Amino acid sequence: MNLKRLSAGLAVALLGAAAPAWADDVVTVGMILPMTGPSQSTGKQEQAAAQLFIQQHGDTVAGKKIKLEIKDDTGAADVTKRLAQELVTNDHAAALMGFGLTPLALAVAPIATEAKVPEIVTAAATAIITEKSPYIVRTSFTLPQVSAPMADWCLKNNIKKVVTIVTDYGPGVDAEKWYSETFTKGGGTIAEQIRVPLKNPDFAPFLQRVKDDAPDAVFVFVPSGFGAVFMKQFIERGLDKSGIKLIGTGDVTDDDLLADIGDAALGAVTTHHYSVAHDSPENKAFVQAFEKANNGMRPNFMAVAAYDGMALLYRALEKTKGSTDGDALIAAMKGESWMSPRGKVTIDPDTRDIVQTVYVRKVEKVDGQLYNVEFASIPDVKDPFKASKH
Ligand code: DHB
Repeated sequence: MNLKRLSAGLAVALLGAAAPAWADDVVTVGMILPMTGPSQSTGKQEQAAAQLFIQQHGDTVAGKKIKLEIKDDTGAADVTKRLAQELVTNDHAAALMGFGLTPLALAVAPIATEAKVPEIVTAAATAIITEKSPYIVRTSFTLPQVSAPMADWCLKNNIKKVVTIVTDYGPGVDAEKWYSETFTKGGGTIAEQIRVPLKNPDFAPFLQRVKDDAPDAVFVFVPSGFGAVFMKQFIERGLDKSGIKLIGTGDVTDDDLLADIGDAALGAVTTHHYSVAHDSPENKAFVQAFEKANNGMRPNFMAVAAYDGMALLYRALEKTKGSTDGDALIAAMKGESWMSPRGKVTIDPDTRDIVQTVYVRKVEKVDGQLYNVEFASIPDVKDPFKASKH
């Protein structure tokens, strides 16, 4: 009798002790971000947005408790890969999220495939990323998606000769190709294509070349967080007063950096999928809550993508009734459509990339502060790289 009771007690104790961190009612989301290093603003923005989403929507979905595990990969791909492996193996993460730069997102693709775990890319934006695993889905954007519309705008606005200057890796090469090809097809001239290294970028010597080429405009792509350094050198070289128009994707006039950049950014025209100034009730509520929770920090396009990454996961879990089976989650995400702070978004069921409105914006001062003010929009833009292959 005593023995029986003892063994029953032991069994309970053992069960308790063995209760894993990945208990059935907990869904671990491994969010891997550059929280330190040159892309730390992406990490800071994305962490704040994911936490805001959970705070607003509760940490329980379809009976499951959401556990957000934030990990710092410092922007180094080998670290991203190791963290992803640990999150999948040790923490039994049901989804991996984040990835501040293209090489970091690519490093995780084989792990997502092998473990059948969704990899929700909320930052990195080179077009090919989603083709590297059937478990990758993206809520940020692609560079072709925002670069081609910039060329269309130039063709309609008397800009005839352009120099491109991009950071020399995946997204920069995408931006250069899709801007230049669209522009030249429409009759524009590309005077020069300049690529600047990602590590320790020094734009100054290249900017002198831009000045010498005397184009109508310079088209720029730098990753989020690098725009202030670029603009500082742009001003030092006198390009702000040269009559050469500054155009680009919205990464260079990042909402997060505009105050630091200052009035030199006034008049810059960019194409992008999100501006903090986007005029909608959803965005007003988002910006207000984000700033309140983060000491007045402005959300940028990285924040909105992480917020939507969480939204997509919540929606998928509701559809699977809490099942964390990777195939079921990806199937649930395909074709999902919802109202984001940036406007209506849809996950393309064929490519798992995001379909969204691309806005044309101009830096203006509103109530004493600099904003990317939207003045035209192109709805339902798909990634043109994938569209060109179908
Ligand atoms: C990527 C990173 C960025 O910060 C950005 O603004 C766009 C693209 C990337 O590495 O894919």
